[in-house]
Amino acid sequence: MAGKELPFPYEFEELKPEEEELIKTTVYPTMPVPYVRLGPKGYIVFKPYMKEAANIYNMPLRPTDVFVASYQRSGTTWTQELVWLIANDLNYEQAAEIPLTHRYPFLDVFMYFDEDTIEEYVDTITKTAAENFDREKFLGVLRVVAKPVISLLAAAPLTAKRFIKTHLPMSLLPPKLLDTAKMVYVARDPRDVAVSCFHHARLFGMGGCHGDFKDFWNLFHRDLFTLTPYFEHVKEAWEKRDDPNMLFLFYEDLSKDLPASIRQVADFLGKQLNEEQMNRLCDHLSIENFKNNKSVNYEDLRDSGVLANGETFIRKGKAGGWRAYFDDEMTQQAERWIEDNLLDTDLRFPHIRH
Ligand code: A3P
Repeated sequence: MAGKELPFPYEFEELKPEEEELIKTTVYPTMPVPYVRLGPKGYIVFKPYMKEAANIYNMPLRPTDVFVASYQRSGTTWTQELVWLIANDLNYEQAAEIPLTHRYPFLDVFMYFDEDTIEEYVDTITKTAAENFDREKFLGVLRVVAKPVISLLAAAPLTAKRFIKTHLPMSLLPPKLLDTAKMVYVARDPRDVAVSCFHHARLFGMGGCHGDFKDFWNLFHRDLFTLTPYFEHVKEAWEKRDDPNMLFLFYEDLSKDLPASIRQVADFLGKQLNEEQMNRLCDHLSIENFKNNKSVNYEDLRDSGVLANGETFIRKGKAGGWRAYFDDEMTQQAERWIEDNLLDTDLRFPHIRH
């Protein structure tokens, strides 16, 4: 196998000091590791990504693998649960028993932390953390999160179907991934993505994230947030949408007509659902039920003081909520930004009049 390894084709570069400063003051004041810019598209990753980049690029795949991929906050969790339940013949008991994070190893989450500096990081945030902050529990969680999952995936029994979550763009994954494995990619209006990322950064920001949404938007649309440039990410998957092993979905379509999206996923996975099964699945996947579903909502971290008050992982679940966050200037800027980025592609969002 070793002889067949592909060299990782991309170089990375450090950000400019003023960019680092902007990120620190806007969104990640306590983050222990810096961002770097990777490859010709300039994807923003945390630096620990580099130690695993070649292994991910070369990860051995199996024909039964199913990836759920997205730019973050695009409806990944929703899609993961939908895909998993259909692929596993609607096994609701197991879905309730085994948290989604265990059912889907998260390929790139390790990059947020450096295994060697986790303790230092936890010590820093302990100083300003909430009263109920449970240092040991958090440390335990981070130790697991910081471990790359490639070896865990390799150790999965050959009889087990592997479900893999990733926010990586296609160009950082094995180049021939779709020759072997399946992928469901979900995309969402970048304005809603930005709002959702803003809240997510607050949720896990350990009280350190003080900038307002306008500051965050500035960072996001200037390609200075994790795994931006957003449009490059989506376009890479869009280009593969006709591959029989790729299913490209839009959050807005799930939101508008969930049964239609469920049927698409079922067809893609070679499964069929009767009306009763469809109704139950729609109900299970509703935002109200998701908010209370312990297997998907990350609320188990709440009592250890890791999650910010007033923020939740499963949040509003609406298409178009961005309107409440954008003033006229930002709205026009966003429209221009979207238009400019769609000039060289036939990617079109179903709900945006172009
Ligand atoms: P909002 O913050 O706009 O509410 P991801 O899973 O990729 O992190 O995406 C999170 C976004 O999907 C959040 O968006 C979240 O509320 C929304 N979401 C999660 N479950 C959902 C559901 N069952 N129905 C609709 N939206 C859902």
